[in-house]
Amino acid sequence: MQKPKIITNLPGPKAQKLLRKDKKYISPSYTRSYPAVIEHGEGCWVWDVDGNKFLDFNAGIAVCSTGHCHPQVVEAIQKQAEKLIHMSGTDYYYPLQTQLAEKLAEIAPGGMNKRVFFANSGAETVEGAFKLARYMTKRKYAIAFLGSFHGRTLGALSLTGSKVTQKQGFGPLLPGIFHIPYAYCYRCAYNLEYPGCDFACIKYIEDQLFKKVLPPDETCAIFIEPIQGEGGYVVPPPGYFQKLKELMQKYGILMIADEVQSGMGRTGKMFAMEHWDTMADVYCVAKGIASGMPLGAFIASASLMSWPPGAHASTFGGNPVCCAAAMATIKLLENGLVENAAKVGAVIMKRLEALQAKYEAIGDVRGKGLMIGIELVEDSISKKPLTEKRNGIIYKCFEKGLLMQGCGANAIRFSPSLIVTEEEAHTAIDIFESAMKSVLR
Ligand SMILES: Cc1ncc(COP(=O)(O)O)c(C=O)c1O
Repeated sequence: MQKPKIITNLPGPKAQKLLRKDKKYISPSYTRSYPAVIEHGEGCWVWDVDGNKFLDFNAGIAVCSTGHCHPQVVEAIQKQAEKLIHMSGTDYYYPLQTQLAEKLAEIAPGGMNKRVFFANSGAETVEGAFKLARYMTKRKYAIAFLGSFHGRTLGALSLTGSKVTQKQGFGPLLPGIFHIPYAYCYRCAYNLEYPGCDFACIKYIEDQLFKKVLPPDETCAIFIEPIQGEGGYVVPPPGYFQKLKELMQKYGILMIADEVQSGMGRTGKMFAMEHWDTMADVYCVAKGIASGMPLGAFIASASLMSWPPGAHASTFGGNPVCCAAAMATIKLLENGLVENAAKVGAVIMKRLEALQAKYEAIGDVRGKGLMIGIELVEDSISKKPLTEKRNGIIYKCFEKGLLMQGCGANAIRFSPSLIVTEEEAHTAIDIFESAMKSVLR
């Protein structure tokens, strides 16, 4: 059985040297929460420059879906790099881009009659989907959620409603975006309880927003994360998206599902929206699509994606090497990894629920598949966020050889690669519990 192995103080001597140089040359806007200086990776394991071995339970922010350097993905990248690295799908054709578009049309919910636009990142997919929605509907306004994260480019940032530091100093952002409370039942904005609430948060849109400030017939889209990622791994209750979709359909408003984090099998289904049996009009994917190669895509029906040449394009988007990595990734997802995400995710949920029964500080455990979050609170009545202790636990995990990340003000996310084994899950949770014990003491 593999275990983490920490053989130096952290950060070790080589890491410290690199950190000094990094501080000098790298933009300080990055949000590193601990000094992990990684040299190589294999599966769910990574080694730092000093030879310390870590169990990676974050997978490069939910990106390395098939684990680090999966041999089949590496082979696909190597083979393609020998043949053609770049051509630009904007001005030329090459088989892989078309093949991948066909594959995405097949695996995204709805029939095959879809089209795909390729980008390089999650934010770019959101930008593109927003432009498509405005262009095709000829409407200017949009709805987004408090707690949402859609990226940091100016359009995506305007939709983002996660942390004010992400916006501070960058205004004015895009006008005409209305942020509303998300279905965050653990901290309901309306102080109600599901299912007795009867979806008051959706009724608010029609009864308040559409009547007082936002003309629905001038609204192009609502941007949703099926499970809010950066915002704290928040999962809406059953029936929520069905109901929201009904309302949007009533007013001809497009539903754009930002599945940048929740898509590509992470939640135990290829697309998280499948958990709610609801079809979005546009799906944005990135992160896990190509196991770490930079690729994003948004997918819509052929009739919706019918803008003219020149309306939107990208030099690098759909790069052949990234497409090859994506084809290999999807093959692995279809051949067992999505199922594994559901199976090992259930094991992690069960263990975390058992921890919740033991520690009052674990206020909430939520998630689907391998997109699981826990929220740390002072006690179950006040639910006061334990932000500093949350940060302390993440740091302690690092010192014990487990890589974790936070999300929201006081949550910790469990988002390992989809190849994670039950044994690795138990190892991670044992370390997590011991880190929690020492910080909460
Ligand atoms: C749901 C969601 N949308 C968009 C983005 C932005 O993606 P990127 O950092 O690739 O631009 C992220 C990144 O965390 C995300 O989680």
